[in-house]
Amino acid sequence: MYAQPIPLSRFAPTRSHEIEKLVHETHGFISSLSEKGGPDPSDYVMLNALLQCFSGDNSKSMLSDNQFQQIRGAFGGALSPETIQGWAYHKPLGYAGDFKIIEKIYSYHISSNPHLAKWDHYSHYQTATKAIRNRISFFLDQVWKAKNQSPNNCQILNLASGPGRDMHETFSTLGAQGVQIDCVEQDHQAIKFAMNLCKNFLSHIQFFHKNVLRFTTTKTYNLIWSGGLFDYFNDSIFKRMIKRLLPSLKKNGKLIIGNFSTDNPSRGYMDLFNWNLIHRTREELRQLAKSCGVLDQNISIEQEPEGINLFLVINN
Ligand SMILES: C[S@@+](CC[C@H](N)C(=O)[O-])C[C@H]1O[C@@H](n2cnc3c(N)ncnc32)[C@H](O)[C@@H]1O
Repeated sequence: MYAQPIPLSRFAPTRSHEIEKLVHETHGFISSLSEKGGPDPSDYVMLNALLQCFSGDNSKSMLSDNQFQQIRGAFGGALSPETIQGWAYHKPLGYAGDFKIIEKIYSYHISSNPHLAKWDHYSHYQTATKAIRNRISFFLDQVWKAKNQSPNNCQILNLASGPGRDMHETFSTLGAQGVQIDCVEQDHQAIKFAMNLCKNFLSHIQFFHKNVLRFTTTKTYNLIWSGGLFDYFNDSIFKRMIKRLLPSLKKNGKLIIGNFSTDNPSRGYMDLFNWNLIHRTREELRQLAKSCGVLDQNISIEQEPEGINLFLVINN
């Protein structure tokens, strides 16, 4: 059975009966995809467009919990933790964005179950997953720059280090000589995984099993990096962390904080599985730094090639 396309004119519902109709049609479209074993690439645009119209702040007021549940129900077995989207929804480790799902995204994991594989291909097609993968080369580039500035003693603090894939790729490519990375991570399973992955570089990495909110240090760093953490922090915690971290920067050091952009075209897909991030604009990120007393000239906003994972860069 082939999924029937839905006219794009239906994608801006405002009245409750229009919303109900769109939920019904979305349910039907996803059910038809599930029946044929998952979406083909030709279905991606339609599916994304449907999910995106329930995204972000709109969806919170637009859809009831029942309507969300109705749409999720259409995925059937494709919402099991065997798929990336199912893992995102069920959160087997108890929190969103755990190291296992991030590692599945980095390693382009596809379910070995042929009935589910197409759904994983769809997850990897998402702009958000591409943006996550792009974090690795962004990190590598930053380490390279920091190492150029301080070739013999480059000190890096990595907050919420997760699976450690970024460190592994960076050290495998650049070498680890002269670089020391201190990692703060709350999940001991993530630390165990990262220690194994980075086993050839452990003399250059130290792990602190701690909540970053409670981490203090007297050391100073050339680079303080955090990807995939601050978009879970509200503004007040975000600012508290900036204020706490600034004194730990060496002269000419950089504090780099990743945060997903409000332009995230995968937001509807992520919201459906309650992978809720605090999306921010470039200006909001800049203002957060300014409100911590950072001068405008010391702030820049960078991005990975998809333009979805933004990076607040504060130069000391
Ligand atoms: C989305 S992953 C990002 C991992 C890594 N930075 C990357 O970009 O590949 C988030 C990680 O942050 C960790 N984490 C979340 N909140 C934390 C906190 N308050 N303190 C320390 N680690 C935290 C989680 O355990 C998880 O491993």
